[in-house]
Amino acid sequence: MSETAPLRIGVLASGRGSNFEAIVHAVASRAIPGAVVAVLISDRADAPALAIARAHGVEPIAIDARDHPGREVHDKAIADALEERNVGLVCLAGYLRLLGRDFVRRFADRVLNIHPSLLPAFPGLHAQRQALEYGVRVAGATVHFVDEGTDTGPIVLQAAVPVHAGDTEASLSARILAEEHRIYPEAVRLFAEGRIRFDGRRVQIVETA
Ligand code: GRF
Repeated sequence: MSETAPLRIGVLASGRGSNFEAIVHAVASRAIPGAVVAVLISDRADAPALAIARAHGVEPIAIDARDHPGREVHDKAIADALEERNVGLVCLAGYLRLLGRDFVRRFADRVLNIHPSLLPAFPGLHAQRQALEYGVRVAGATVHFVDEGTDTGPIVLQAAVPVHAGDTEASLSARILAEEHRIYPEAVRLFAEGRIRFDGRRVQIVETA
């Protein structure tokens, strides 16, 4: 019987941590076979995501930006912590800082992000509010690889939701979040199964590795 080493996942979160928890549940239920969530790193010592990590037996680490002044220094502290734990996939889950060039190159094609819009529409902060204010009829969520831009990397999966008359930022965000919790673990599974190929900036999903 051949044994392959499990994919070790590191998650970066700044806040609530519901996408992180969705990934943890998917790993625990074997919906993402052959993977372990090795560490949760937050740039905020008070992030609720850290408590979620503790509750699920995932190592929680706070690497506060105030203790590591300058983006490169902070990024490096995080990258070192991930490498020390042999992390093979980094998942940004509500991580509110831009990662610099060195980090992105160090983990090239191994960093995923979830964004609450149908990219390339509405990158950046408050994507759901941007969508409502623009007046789109369809909104959604995107899982993409992280490159050096803001929400510009190759797209892995997207899911659409309708925008209803009378939607508020909160009601639309909740509808999108339900899809985030579905497609983020799915994208991680595709990565863990080695089913992702790059064709320029386009991602191809192959049937078997
Ligand atoms: C999600 O809407 C995600 O798309 C965005 O930030 C939010 C994080 O929520 N990047 P949570 O911390 O995963 O609950």
